[in-house]
Amino acid sequence: MKVLGIAMGRRNGNSEILLKHALKACEEDGAEVSFFRLHDYHINPCTGCELCTKLGRRHEERHCMYPWDADDTRQIADMIEAADGLILAAPAYHLMPPGIGTVMLNRNHCCIDVPGHRGDYSFKRRVCASIGVGGSDWTSLFMPILNFIGTEMLGSTMHLADQMKLHRTPAVGMVLCNKEALDRATQLGHNVMTELKREEEVVVYHGEEGMCPICHNSIVVIRNGRMACAICDYEGDPVIEDGKIKSIKWDCGIEGTRWSPHGNEHHDSEQFTSVKFDKEAGGVGYVFTEEQQKEMAEGRAKWSKYLEPVMPKRK
Ligand SMILES: Cc1cc2nc3c(=O)[nH]c(=O)nc-3n(C[C@H](O)[C@H](O)[C@H](O)COP(=O)(O)O)c2cc1C
Repeated sequence: MKVLGIAMGRRNGNSEILLKHALKACEEDGAEVSFFRLHDYHINPCTGCELCTKLGRRHEERHCMYPWDADDTRQIADMIEAADGLILAAPAYHLMPPGIGTVMLNRNHCCIDVPGHRGDYSFKRRVCASIGVGGSDWTSLFMPILNFIGTEMLGSTMHLADQMKLHRTPAVGMVLCNKEALDRATQLGHNVMTELKREEEVVVYHGEEGMCPICHNSIVVIRNGRMACAICDYEGDPVIEDGKIKSIKWDCGIEGTRWSPHGNEHHDSEQFTSVKFDKEAGGVGYVFTEEQQKEMAEGRAKWSKYLEPVMPKRK
């Protein structure tokens, strides 16, 4: 079994030290472990051209409009593909994981076979876990997004085995004075291995419970008078006592969330996208009336002439 760690913080910094404690535990439990520092890799940001999406819809192998040797995206994807377990370790930057993490995730879109695009929703069973460190407690968006990156990188199914978040740890390496945190990271590694060795399909979650029982995050949005988990889309209603929200009564199973065949089918359905796919042409493009096509072409030509972008000053 291979467990891969991705470090997104400072070299030998707090999150990296915790990651190494987790990986060491995995190694002790029999895994082949490795890690890389995301900052050592160059990733061109996704331009949104949708080439990979269109290839996926045509059931063809995905690739990017960037050649594979233009950056290190493919190498990262290959390492992730070869791994059974993935542990992300990151510092909080402005309430969130570092931007490079989402740059990696966006580009990973051209490397994975999105479920459904190949008519098959089954995936290799894999496990992910997340380690987060904040200098303060300004971290509200941090773990949900970090967990989302891990979950998406492994193919959009719910396989989060554990997560840990540490607050008030600003100075580089100061986590080494926090034995409880180091032990927790070691436990996280053991938990990843417990789940990798589990015979059943389900991945049992070992971390602190979040508000959402499916993805274990705690960011909810209000939609159509109901509450929905902002990460996995699980829906429910608030239970109000003495004028205060005491809990949420969730009312569907995992099949009602993003991390399910239902979620993927829903994402790919025409009602969801509000545009019809050109199925006769192999689902390559969207279908618009001639009138709509004219309106869009004329509008884009008009707006492209309004304002030239300010370009970077370079020698
Ligand atoms: C650009 C930047 C933004 C940061 N924003 C936050 C923040 O929003 N919340 C927080 O708790 N810590 C924030 N921090 C502090 C780091 O999370 C903290 O120093 C952490 O220990 C770094 O982990 P590392 O040693 O693994 O790199 C920020 C640090 C930097 C450099």
